[in-house]
Amino acid sequence: MLELIKRFGKGYGGRCAIGVITKALEVVFNLIAPVIVARMIDIGVGTHDTGYVIRMGAVLIALSLVGYAFTLVCQKMAALISQGMGTDLRRALFHHVSSFGAAEVDEFGTASLVTRVTNDVNQIQVAVALAIRQLVRWPLLAVGSMVAALMLNLRLGLIFLVCTPLIGLVFWYVMSRSVPFFQTMQGKLDRISRIAREGLSGARVIRSFRREDAEKARFHEVAVDQTDTAIAVSNLSAWLSPSTFLVMNLGIVAILWAGGRQVDAGLMSQGEIVAFVNYMIQTLQSVVYVANLVVIFTRASASAQRIVEVLDAKPAVTEKPGAVAPQEDAAASSQALVFDHVCFAYAGSSADALHEVSFALPAGHELGIIGGTGSGKSTLAGLVLRLYDVRSGSVAVCGQDVRDWPLAALRQVVSIVPQQASLVTGTIRSNLLWRDGGASDDALWQALELAQAADFVRKKPGGLDAVVEAGGKNFSGGQRQRLTIARALVGSPQLVVLDDAASALDFATDAALRHALRSLRPAVSSVVISQRVSAVMDADLVLVLDHGAAIGLGTHRELLDGCPLYREICLTQLRPEELGRDEVPLAGARGGDI
Ligand SMILES: Nc1ncnc2c1ncn2[C@@H]1O[C@H](COP(=O)(O)OP(=O)(O)O)[C@@H](O)[C@H]1O
Ligand SMILES: [Mg+2]
Repeated sequence: MLELIKRFGKGYGGRCAIGVITKALEVVFNLIAPVIVARMIDIGVGTHDTGYVIRMGAVLIALSLVGYAFTLVCQKMAALISQGMGTDLRRALFHHVSSFGAAEVDEFGTASLVTRVTNDVNQIQVAVALAIRQLVRWPLLAVGSMVAALMLNLRLGLIFLVCTPLIGLVFWYVMSRSVPFFQTMQGKLDRISRIAREGLSGARVIRSFRREDAEKARFHEVAVDQTDTAIAVSNLSAWLSPSTFLVMNLGIVAILWAGGRQVDAGLMSQGEIVAFVNYMIQTLQSVVYVANLVVIFTRASASAQRIVEVLDAKPAVTEKPGAVAPQEDAAASSQALVFDHVCFAYAGSSADALHEVSFALPAGHELGIIGGTGSGKSTLAGLVLRLYDVRSGSVAVCGQDVRDWPLAALRQVVSIVPQQASLVTGTIRSNLLWRDGGASDDALWQALELAQAADFVRKKPGGLDAVVEAGGKNFSGGQRQRLTIARALVGSPQLVVLDDAASALDFATDAALRHALRSLRPAVSSVVISQRVSAVMDADLVLVLDHGAAIGLGTHRELLDGCPLYREICLTQLRPEELGRDEVPLAGARGGDI
C-alpha cells in the first residue's frame, strides 16, 4: 500500500494537505461543541438566562456551518485525490499489462488481470478517500475527547481510561481473526470472475453441449465458497456492535453514578456531566471507526499487493538495447525464416512443446506445416513473432536472430494470422489499420482482394465503414478469418504466417487465397499452418510436426515416400488421383481397392 502511494501519490501532496488540515479543523470544532453545550446548561439553563442560551445556540449553529464547510472542502479533496490516483493506477496497469508478453498473461490469467485492473484498484480508491477523510478524524477525536474529559475532571476521566482499552481489546480480537479472511476474499473473487467469463463467453458452446447445469453448479460452488467466507467475517463482526454498546452504556452509567455524587457534593456542574458523556460517546465511536478503517486498509493492502505484483512483473521477452533491424537488401537476399535446433517448453511444463526443430525457408518461398492438434504448430508460430523466447537453439527472421531484432520492427516484418480470428468493436477500416495506421483505401482493398474478402465487404452497407460489433460477432466465422487475413497483409509484411487461419473457409476459397498469396512472391514469404494436406501440399517445403518434434521435412512428393505419418495423413484426406503419384503402392493401405 505504502509502495503504491509512494509511486502514485506524487503531485497530490498539496491537495492531501488541504484535506487533512480542513479535517483537523473540523475535529477542533467537534471538541469545542460539548464545552459550549455545558455552558449553555450551567449558565443559561442554571440561571434561566434565555438570551444566553440563544446566543450560545447561535454560536453552535455557526460552528457547525463552518465545520460543514470544512467537511465539504475535505470531501472534495478526497474525491479528487482518490479518483485521480485510481485513474493513474488504472492507466499505469493497463499500459504495463499491454507490454506483457504471452508468458506473463499465461502466468496471471486474463480473469485475474481484469479483476486487478478493476476491483483491486477500486479498493485502493476507497481506502485513499477514507484515509484522507477519516484517518485523521477519528484518532484525533478520540485523543482530543480523552484529553478534554481528563481536563474537565480527572477522577471521572479514569472511567474513560478503563472503557477505551476495553473496547480496543474487543476490536483487536475480532480484527486479528477476520483479517486473514479478507486476504483470501480477493483470490476467491478472481475465481468467480474467471468462471463467469468462461461461462458467458462460451455460452453457445455450453448450450450446444447441454453443459448449462454443470456450469451452473461450478459457478454455484465458487459463489457459495465466497459467501461462506463473507458470512464467517460478518459473524465475527456481529460481535462488535453489541459489545461496543454494552461497554459504552456501562461507561455512561458509571459516569452518571460517580458524576451524580460529585454534583451533589458541589464538585461538578450538571453541564460538565453532559459534556463528559458527549466526550465519552465521541471517544468510543472513534474506536469503532478506527476498527472499520483497519478492515478497509487490510483489504486495500491485499489489493495493493496484487497490483504491485502486476506492476513489478517484468516481461520475459525484452528488446536488446541497441537492437537494429537488418538492412533492406541484406534482408531480401537472406533466408526468410530459419529454425536451428529449437527447443521450447511453456513455463510450468516439464515437457518440451517443441523439441530440436530445424528448417530453413528461403526468401520468397512457401512453407507448409502440418500436424495434429497439440503437435506444437501454434507454438512454432508464436516463436517466429518472439511471443516467447526459445529454451535452446535459435529462430532467425531475414537472416537475423529474433532476439537481436527491435520488437516493433520484427512484428512489422512478420505478420501472423492467429487461429482465433479476433476483431474489435469499430469499423472494417479501423480493424484493417492495425499494422499500418496510414494505409490508403486502395491498399486496404488490395489486401481484401488477396484475402478473398473484397466481395462480401463490398456488399456490406458502408463498405470499409461497415460496423464491426464486439468480437466481430456480426460476421460469420469464415468472414472473420478473411478479415483477419486481410489485416495481416496490410503494411507490406515480408513474412506471413497463417496459423490454421483458413480453417473455416471452403476448399475453393482456401485455394484461391493461397494462390493470391503466391502472387506476392518474391517480396513476401509465407508459412501456411494447417491440418489439411490440401492446404500444404503445394508448398515449396512441408514440415511435419508430431508431439513437438519435426518428423518430416521436404516436398510433398519426398514426404510421401519418406515420412510414414505424412503418408498416412494423405491417405486419409486425399483421393488417390490427388496424391499426384499413381505409382505409389497404395493398395496395402487402401485395402486393395486399386
Ligand atoms: N500457453 C500455454 N501454456 C502452456 N502450455 C501450452 C500453452 N499453449 C499450448 N500449450 C501446450 O503446448 C502443446 C502444443 O500446443 P499448440 O502449439 O497450441 O499445438 P497446435 O497448434 O499444434 O494444436 C500442447 O501440448 C499444449 O497443451
Ligand atoms: Mg494451433
